[in-house]
Amino acid sequence: MPESVDTRFALYPGSFDPFTYGHLDILERALRLFERIEVTVAVNTGKEAGLFAPEERCELIRRCTHHMDGVSTTTFEGLLVDHARDQGAGVLLRGLRQVKDFDYEFRMAFANRKLHPDLETVFLMTSEQNAFVSSTIVRDVHRWGGDLSKFVPTPVAEALEAKREQS
Ligand code: PNS
Repeated sequence: MPESVDTRFALYPGSFDPFTYGHLDILERALRLFERIEVTVAVNTGKEAGLFAPEERCELIRRCTHHMDGVSTTTFEGLLVDHARDQGAGVLLRGLRQVKDFDYEFRMAFANRKLHPDLETVFLMTSEQNAFVSSTIVRDVHRWGGDLSKFVPTPVAEALEAKREQS
């Protein structure tokens, strides 16, 4: 028996360390397709300690999306499909930037489908001008003191600047 899921409600999961214009671009596109989108920040992914703590990432996402109706932000720990079940979401939303993203994304989508067959993964493409923007590049530019205004929304740029002043 299929699980009851809401296909107008999408989860947008990721590390978001930090949230970039690429993420914002995907979210704006997705809002034309879904009624509700929960941006959900993964906690304890096994990656090394991030630039921002998960709660800080959430707060920054909230500040970047406060003008968008239907968007909420949470953290999740454990399996993404379990969080999707708890929330009743019917869709996982992932952004694609370039061909090399496909391999990782397909493996993740197939794993999630095995674990939760009624949850659909939907991929959206970023715009060309955001195709090169990634959190990894942002962290690198930040480390060497570069201008981040073209990569991240203002609240994130300000938080990165404050971090630089602290260190
Ligand atoms: O932005 P990222 O780092 O590519 O996001 C990856 C993320 C957090 C969505 C993925 O690692 C994830 O879903 N982690 C939770 C654990 C899980 O459910 N794993 C099984 C699917 S691969």
